[in-house]
Amino acid sequence: MMLTVHSVTRQFGGFKAVDGVSLQLAAQEILGIAGTNGAGKSTLFAAIAGQQPADAGEIRFEGQDITHQAPYRRARLGLVRTFQVPREFKTLTVHENLLAAAPNPSGERLLGSFFPTRHVREHEARLAEKADGILDFLNLARVRDVKAGGLSGGQKKLVELGRVLMLDPRCILLDEPFAGVNPVLIEEICDRVRQLNAQGIAFIVIEHHLQALKSLSNRMIVMDRGRILAEGDPHAVLEDPRVQEAYMGGVV
Ligand SMILES: Nc1ncnc2c1ncn2[C@@H]1O[C@H](COP(=O)(O)OP(=O)(O)O)[C@@H](O)[C@H]1O
Ligand SMILES: [Mg+2]
Repeated sequence: MMLTVHSVTRQFGGFKAVDGVSLQLAAQEILGIAGTNGAGKSTLFAAIAGQQPADAGEIRFEGQDITHQAPYRRARLGLVRTFQVPREFKTLTVHENLLAAAPNPSGERLLGSFFPTRHVREHEARLAEKADGILDFLNLARVRDVKAGGLSGGQKKLVELGRVLMLDPRCILLDEPFAGVNPVLIEEICDRVRQLNAQGIAFIVIEHHLQALKSLSNRMIVMDRGRILAEGDPHAVLEDPRVQEAYMGGVV
């Protein structure tokens, strides 16, 4: 197993937003997570990626206990996430947004801006090239030099994905990648996720767009009030009466 989440709880002043959740993710998987608003999905991501560390339980990534590690350390191991509301730097270009996501080369960057050594210049050239490769892959090359604040919702979601790809991830947590995205771009994002997965990157995808999630996921979890309500084959999970009830009949 690449990722193991064991009995994880995260509370906010006594309220358990995530309440004893356990799940496992294999290296070749795409796991879908659905659930009503406020079910605790984003908080679960925050516990896994480290922004809101677990109050109880244990999280292991590639055999290592990461439960209490800072987010940047988890990212260095290859565990990264995107956010439900994209966090682009609005006044930076798309290309600059990707560069800003790259880890600093051992503090040299600060000095480098005054006395760029050959080492620093070469490193930055490599990063710039890497960012361009990712922009090509995500079909964003034509907006490379556009300020990110002016992009469409769907393009901002792709920039979020581009930013985490700069970190050479092994596992990507995507928080609502299809929200506010047009159907053509949803298909495009699905296609890129499948390609990255085929190259060995595991995914957990939170999404309300259940049809797209069903077609993308190998396995699915539905959360309700901080707990896992159902888990398994996507078709079976969406047919589950408890899931239908949580969605009050009609939505699925
Ligand atoms: N930082 C926070 N402080 C207090 N309550 C929070 C915080 N983050 C989330 N919550 C609460 O935790 C619950 C789960 O939120 P969230 O994980 O965002 O749900 P979901 O992503 O499934 O819609 C909600 O009731 C939300 O109001
Ligand atoms: Mg959420």
